[in-house]
Amino acid sequence: MRLSVIGCGYVGLVTGACLAEAGHEVVCTDIDRERIASAHKAGRISYTADAGDAIRAGDAIFICVGTPPKDSGEADLSAIDNVARQIAAEAKTPKLVVEKSTVPARTGLELSRALSAYSKNSGVKHRVASNPEFLREGTAVFDFFHPDRIVVGVEDPSAAAELREIYRPILEKTFRCPVHNGTCPPGHKAEFLVTTINSAELIKHASNSFLALKISYANVIADLCEKIGANVEEVTHAMGLDARIGGQFLKAGLGYGGFCFPKDVQAFIHLSSKVGVDFDILKATERVNKQRIDRFFEKIHQALWVVKGKRVAVLGLAFKANTDDIRFAPALEVVKRLLEEGAFVQATDPEGTPRTKALFPQAQYHEDPYQALQDADAALVCTEWEVFRKLDWDRAGKLMARKLVIDGRNLYTPQAMREKGFEYYSFGRE
Ligand code: UGA
Repeated sequence: MRLSVIGCGYVGLVTGACLAEAGHEVVCTDIDRERIASAHKAGRISYTADAGDAIRAGDAIFICVGTPPKDSGEADLSAIDNVARQIAAEAKTPKLVVEKSTVPARTGLELSRALSAYSKNSGVKHRVASNPEFLREGTAVFDFFHPDRIVVGVEDPSAAAELREIYRPILEKTFRCPVHNGTCPPGHKAEFLVTTINSAELIKHASNSFLALKISYANVIADLCEKIGANVEEVTHAMGLDARIGGQFLKAGLGYGGFCFPKDVQAFIHLSSKVGVDFDILKATERVNKQRIDRFFEKIHQALWVVKGKRVAVLGLAFKANTDDIRFAPALEVVKRLLEEGAFVQATDPEGTPRTKALFPQAQYHEDPYQALQDADAALVCTEWEVFRKLDWDRAGKLMARKLVIDGRNLYTPQAMREKGFEYYSFGRE
């Protein structure tokens, strides 16, 4: 099929590239001309700076533009509105307009209304669908080709049939998997779910907010474990073995960051209060997450006493491992507070350093974690990178001024660290 993708950010690029890989002809466009200039035609995917060309090329148009939060927490939908105007102006034949950006409830219905209004002169009738993505950063291509579910919110059955056809290679596993070099290991099949547009939009928010809530729940359990003298990993592991609960997203520590969870939880709180629904558990989710940094600093102050003038190694800046994304990363807040308290910060991260450097030029940055640990009075672990998990602490211990590790991601076994002669603090395992 011929498909268009508008917006070549993270969602748009992954969607475009994966749909081309699955066998479709894809044309991508973006208002950022540099982004388009740096891409070039490869196989079934092409890029154009002319939105009109992209709009006319596809039978279905995927809208993947940004919906950043405004100061009020509400999502800014002006980019989607602009695309609706462009589609109305440029498309001479009816299109299936697929909303892929994460949007608040009822956006699809508004989009449909706007498209009809903007197309009143041409008389062309476009259809709208909502197709939320569940891609994680760092594993987006894997997630695209191996989804648990593909959700399509539609107004009429023909739109659902068209989307099923678009996703048929993935549903029937007939694509050549780029992640597994051809053959994927056997796994469960994706469910194709047809819902209303409103439900589809809610599914995305409800899923992300639930995962955030699960993390905050595990973090409160960790605090409780510390007070009672239990081990959070023993508790969450046993909880997770109950199939009704599941073991994922129960890792306690510094809490969630990134561009999705903090933003989506906020938008969901905003939406529920706007329609008069009490969603206080989500406010608590957010509060618990913010308090993780306070808890971390309680540990830092307890262990290090005075922070001013101390040399502190910060291991990890990205909001999670395997990404260079530092947006809303807990580590940034940690670095900011350390600097405010007068510490000398020696930070390291396999990918997140350049962006952090631009925000906090007063800190020192090292590619090599052992250099970051040189002469440090304490090491703080903020991101769960594999290189940190595998760090040689005997070697690090010799480099550090004081053998003190405060682990915000529970990467190491307390006993093993103590046997190596470290003072070691983590979450929920004292
Ligand atoms: C998340 C969702 O997992 C995706 O399904 C969704 O499509 C995406 O948001 C989105 O809305 O676009 P992502 O933000 O890439 O994906 O990151 P996650 O892997 O979900 O991790 C989020 C944060 O939670 C990270 O800071 C991570 O360190 C933290 N986390 C995760 C924990 O603190 N504990 C856990 O047990 C799991």
